[in-house]
Amino acid sequence: MNILGVSGSLRAASFNTALLRAAQELAPDDVTIRIFGLHDLPLFNQDVEDAGDPPSVTAWKDAIRASDALLLACPEYNGGVTGVLKNAIDWASRGKPAPLTGKICCLVGAALEQREPSAPRTPCGCRYGAPAPRPFRWARSWSARRPPGSSTAS
Ligand SMILES: Cc1cc2nc3c(=O)[nH]c(=O)nc-3n(C[C@H](O)[C@H](O)[C@H](O)COP(=O)(O)O)c2cc1C
Repeated sequence: MNILGVSGSLRAASFNTALLRAAQELAPDDVTIRIFGLHDLPLFNQDVEDAGDPPSVTAWKDAIRASDALLLACPEYNGGVTGVLKNAIDWASRGKPAPLTGKICCLVGAALEQREPSAPRTPCGCRYGAPAPRPFRWARSWSARRPPGSSTAS
């Protein structure tokens, strides 16, 4: 199975990107997780789309099409998904068929305090995607900063 890992954070030391790397390490032999960086995606602009997808957008759409499922790791920003991830989803929701059509999306996240675990699901829950029923884990990034052996948050 080919899974495309996508981080909603562009931060070099991102906990969410670290989640994806951990998933790569823990994946069984028959599962491949490729991490796709969203750094080069332009902001969605229908004028740009009408003129033809830029190479970075084509690469993003091709990567989704080549995958069996998406693993989205996204922090909560002001109660919602990051603009970075939302923008990427907007691009991938376009085209006939849209790359996200029927794609299984699983969501994980590391944030200070996820107040609304369903928030990042919202843009994926549109008619294009096929999100997993529930995010399977919402970690708190501050627990990851604790020293080993200390109590952990759930
Ligand atoms: C603009 C901004 C908004 C944030 N809003 C929230 C929030 O609503 N809820 C929350 O739990 N954390 C919030 N945070 C904290 C981030 O979730 C936290 O810093 C997280 O570790 C960022 O993910 P990263 O480590 O993958 O970059 C916010 C951080 C930023 C920069």
